[in-house]
Amino acid sequence: MSMQSHNAPPPACAIVIFGANGDLTKRLVVPALYNLARTGLLPKNLALVGVDHNKKTSEEWTAQLKVFLVTVLAKNSEEIDETLWSKVAGSMTFLSGDFEKPETYSQLKGLLAELNQKQGLGGNVLFYMAVADRFFPVIAGKLGEAALMDDTKGFRRLIVEKPFGHDLASARALNACLLKYLKEEQIYRIDHFLGKETVQNIMALRFGNGLFEPIWNRDRIDHVQITVAESIGVETRGKFYEATGALRDMIPNHLFQLVAMVAMEPPVSFDAEDIRAKKAELFKAIQPLALTDVVRGQYDAGTVQDASVPAYRKEPNVSPDSNIETYAAMRLKIDNWRWAGVPFYLRTGKRLNIRSSEIAIRFKQAPYALFRDTPVDELDADWLILRIQPDEGIRLRFNAKRPGPAMMLESVSMRFNYKDYFHQAPAVGYETLIYDCLIGDATLFQRADQVEAAWALVEPVLKGWQDTNPRHFPNYAAGSEGPIAANDLLAKDGRSWRAIRILGGK
Ligand SMILES: NC(=O)c1ccc[n+]([C@@H]2O[C@H](COP(=O)([O-])OP(=O)(O)OC[C@H]3O[C@@H](n4cnc5c(N)ncnc54)[C@H](OP(=O)(O)O)[C@@H]3O)[C@@H](O)[C@H]2O)c1
Repeated sequence: MSMQSHNAPPPACAIVIFGANGDLTKRLVVPALYNLARTGLLPKNLALVGVDHNKKTSEEWTAQLKVFLVTVLAKNSEEIDETLWSKVAGSMTFLSGDFEKPETYSQLKGLLAELNQKQGLGGNVLFYMAVADRFFPVIAGKLGEAALMDDTKGFRRLIVEKPFGHDLASARALNACLLKYLKEEQIYRIDHFLGKETVQNIMALRFGNGLFEPIWNRDRIDHVQITVAESIGVETRGKFYEATGALRDMIPNHLFQLVAMVAMEPPVSFDAEDIRAKKAELFKAIQPLALTDVVRGQYDAGTVQDASVPAYRKEPNVSPDSNIETYAAMRLKIDNWRWAGVPFYLRTGKRLNIRSSEIAIRFKQAPYALFRDTPVDELDADWLILRIQPDEGIRLRFNAKRPGPAMMLESVSMRFNYKDYFHQAPAVGYETLIYDCLIGDATLFQRADQVEAAWALVEPVLKGWQDTNPRHFPNYAAGSEGPIAANDLLAKDGRSWRAIRILGGK
């Protein structure tokens, strides 16, 4: 792995953004580059090239990007640093061209050669496909045909956005297409969840503390719950969602990556390939899903944070009799030495009561016997909760004695909030991912086999859901915690979901 220190500027290079006029570029990629510049983590010699079919000059492009950046910064009550921005903007060139046309790539090749010579970029180029997924094979193929991925005179890397396929066959086809023109180590499949500090902190928590790893197994852990709840609906993405649904959109990528971080065996090093090998082993141990292990839901009209909101079927660009799920829950069984008999319950949905993502690890109960002659009727189990959003932190819940003469217990919690301990540099979530790619660290990116293993796991469910229409859609009110059937999934095992709530709550 060509890794360098994680706190030094990456080597000189060009970054080429396909989809330069798109939403992702304006809202996330360019603000992330600006944030990297302010922490000194952009290459000292940098050329930023934007490619898009919307015709504009480089000056018009940078002026437009600045407007967006100002808005993004204003959300954190920050003002733009004009000197810094003019440095970043000074490195930008806009190239108007169609992704489908070979001449776009010959022009790009000429431009990169010129910039390389003028600015001493060492022949290094990072290509970022900030475009709709139908263009992934098109751009990769044209880059390959134009010999732009030839990495003999500097690195050539390609960032692939989501979604990576819609099912196993399309993910395989996309991998095959990319691998026809690129080597695996040149491909960076992005999962923006892995850019979150708390997700990366799972490894630090597990492997950097003598306290947790010895109890991180079936002897001590009863089960694990992973929740990614959103309070927003499909907003303007009805067309996309009608072709996707909650399961495809969230589970094989984001939620499975969280499962991998929690459940993989300790790697021999933090080297990307060592970590990826452990994740691959874990995916192999996850048992095939049966339809009885999954629950789907679709939101009805309801009230979310005091506002009345329509049913999914009434959203723009959604069919009035749509059978697409906006909620999915599942029980995973991991059949290996560490996790045999410890279910992992996953759930994700739109229009739930609040926005909240967490991994909750429930420990086995202490023996009750000692308390039989006390007023304590039952013992609450202990929980370790890793909060991912919106309030990043870790919480440990355990039983403590309530003051007074009688032996009474109450579940209490110890809290660690990221923002109370660390000054976090302002971030939009793409900084680490882009930086890692610039220094050649693929740890937070998915390898071809992982993507395919994840799709293979959900494939029977996708097929089963496609073959049978849901009988009770819509089956949960907007603003609720999801369908009743999801409760039954855990009730069958004598368990229940944690309430979806914010960290400040109990
Ligand atoms: N937006 C987000 O918040 C977000 C978040 C996470 C991931 N992503 C992923 O990021 C990728 C990009 O999303 P996005 O929302 O930024 O898409 P987008 O707004 O549609 O951006 C794509 C850009 O490419 C241009 N374009 C389309 N066809 C072209 C062609 N043949 N030749 C040259 N330019 C062309 C588009 O121009 P026109 O629109 O004028 O045609 C647009 O400016 C997707 O894979 C998405 O899943 C997006």
